Amino acid sequence: MDGYMINSAETEAAIKEAAAHYEELLRQQVARQTRMEQGSSAKDFSSMDKIVIGVIGGDGIGPKITAQAARVLGKLLADEIASGRVELRNIEGLTIENRLACGKPIPDDVMEEIKACDVLLKGPTTTPNGGTMESANVAMRKALDLYANVRPVCIPAEGIDWTFFRENTEGEYALGSSGIEIPGKLTMDFKVTTLCGTRRIARAAFEYAKNNGKTSVSIVTKANIMKKTDGMFSAICHEVAKDYPGIEADEYYIDIMTANLVKTGTRSKFQVFVLPNLYGDIITDEAAQIQGGVGTAGSANIGDQYAMFEAIHGSAPRMLETGRGDYANPASIIKAAEMLLRHIAMADKADRLAAALEACTQTEKRVVITGGPDGATAEEFADYLMEKL
Ligand code: IPM
Ligand code: MG
Repeated sequence: MDGYMINSAETEAAIKEAAAHYEELLRQQVARQTRMEQGSSAKDFSSMDKIVIGVIGGDGIGPKITAQAARVLGKLLADEIASGRVELRNIEGLTIENRLACGKPIPDDVMEEIKACDVLLKGPTTTPNGGTMESANVAMRKALDLYANVRPVCIPAEGIDWTFFRENTEGEYALGSSGIEIPGKLTMDFKVTTLCGTRRIARAAFEYAKNNGKTSVSIVTKANIMKKTDGMFSAICHEVAKDYPGIEADEYYIDIMTANLVKTGTRSKFQVFVLPNLYGDIITDEAAQIQGGVGTAGSANIGDQYAMFEAIHGSAPRMLETGRGDYANPASIIKAAEMLLRHIAMADKADRLAAALEACTQTEKRVVITGGPDGATAEEFADYLMEKL
């Protein structure tokens, strides 16, 4: 007897309020797309007199592993730091306690310090579940417009050399803290895909493929179900692909791609992936696990003006609670430091770090991290790695 059901006054009021909220969200997102239409150009690090690298510890195991990555950078950049060409600058205050105290995912004074840097090395930050407090990570990606999340996964013994280009500012993340609730009835979140937002991530993936001798880019969506958002993502990626005649663009749905990645034999044929934000989040944890654990993969968040480099894993509060903080694996954030060096046009130093990391985590493995006292500490691992530089 649905026809006779009448909403309560509270529900009617909530629907009206939600509709107004939705209109406001639409206007914000259209304005963002319009801003992107103006375009911007990327910084040229090779011609800069001074490069400021901000170092942010974050929460949980973050400060412990970030300190080790900063030591490694300090060693590799000793000459540039001495001459003043590079500055390693510590940024305090991006902690969960501080964020909750000021009720902002990134406190204003911290944001000001962040914006005074060119690139950032950031430890993981804790994201509260539920509520409306946005994740510091997501807030930073949006505020600095870090649209390309680049995550390489390499297993030389299996011929695997994957690079994921995860769109980093849109999809379910664009309005993740702005969903709608009709109390006692339902909740609704939103997913946003813009034309320019898709075009720039597609371009980043295909440019990377072209410049690194890759012959295929796999577009990963669920366009059979998410018809508008993923439908447009897919269409734009194919449109961009036309500008890269030597590179084959194939398309997979996220579910079967997730299966393909655990299929030995098949999986090594994949090279470059381009995918919307949330699928990219999920599948890069899977890929990192295949490489040896989420503690092993680095993550670059690249925009035109800023770039932030981080571990792909979280802040692991349980490790601290159980007294194992010193045994956290710094390999992921050290991998991020390697990506940072490459981004600031210091490929020779990045190569040295990559070679040392490979020796320490894949081939020689003299010092092994287990996450507990039966293994090495983060500091011992960094000492070992620095010996190999
Ligand atoms: C990542 C993380 C973040 C994300 C969290 C910490 C917000 O999982 O970088 O993959 O979901 O993007
Ligand atoms: Mg993730």
